[in-house]
Amino acid sequence: MQRLQGRRILITGGASGIGRATAELFVREGAAVAILDLDAKRVAATAETIGCMGTRADVRDAASLASAAAEAAAAIGGIDGLVNAAGIFSATGLDDTTPEEFARILAVNLTGTFLAIQATAPFLRTAGAGTVINIASGVGLLPTGPNSTAYVASKGGVIAMTKAIAMELAPAIRVNVVCPGAVETPMTAGFIRDNAVAARYALRRPGQPDELAAAILFLTSDESSFITGTTLAVDGGRTYH
Ligand SMILES: NC(=O)c1ccc[n+]([C@@H]2O[C@H](COP(=O)([O-])OP(=O)(O)OC[C@H]3O[C@@H](n4cnc5c(N)ncnc54)[C@H](O)[C@@H]3O)[C@@H](O)[C@H]2O)c1
Repeated sequence: MQRLQGRRILITGGASGIGRATAELFVREGAAVAILDLDAKRVAATAETIGCMGTRADVRDAASLASAAAEAAAAIGGIDGLVNAAGIFSATGLDDTTPEEFARILAVNLTGTFLAIQATAPFLRTAGAGTVINIASGVGLLPTGPNSTAYVASKGGVIAMTKAIAMELAPAIRVNVVCPGAVETPMTAGFIRDNAVAARYALRRPGQPDELAAAILFLTSDESSFITGTTLAVDGGRTYH
């Protein structure tokens, strides 16, 4: 049986990596899916390949999100699920992070997540039941080293904000956050093996986008009906190892 039959899900950052793998899985599980992404060409190509609706939008911009959410809702018959997978990475630390770089990372990863939830909340409320999954990072739970100050701050913010919004949208809408460890996507191309990241993982390897999509599916489906405000690490055991 398909686990998302009748669901209508919007996925940010759906043109690549974890967002794209989630969109593919959700379509296979029977959901009507809309993806949005900053990259207009890639979002159109991905939507065509997967068989879903796709639109260009910038999560830093409330107006762009409002029109994308309205467009998505019109195309797929409303929105009762949101997955916030848009994100960007930065490897600078305390001394070499400029105020502009700090603001750039926060604008996409933290403010962008907030704005996407704000833009879709009216549709989720109209649906009367729904789910929001935010994608933070394992480094928001346990930073790996001295770098990525802005990125870690943004992801810690997403984890804390998830709990606040889970209380605000309960009981009709469940809100959870997934914290991936290193996952092989375009964001981490040439980075995971070079830095021997896998050595820190109990499972001794980086994750695949499909493995994140499976966890996102669980938190979006009714199988997680008693779970809200939870932080789920999907990280091969890095945060306990
Ligand atoms: N890959 C990993 O190892 C890893 C680990 C921990 C957390 N994450 C998080 O998972 C999420 C997905 O990452 P990924 O690895 O799939 O990356 P990715 O680069 O493959 O995909 C991210 C997508 O977000 C889009 N995007 C970027 N800025 C945007 C904006 N302003 N508006 C709309 N879309 C925008 C990009 O165009 C891209 O398609 C991110 O939040 C990332 O921080 C990834």
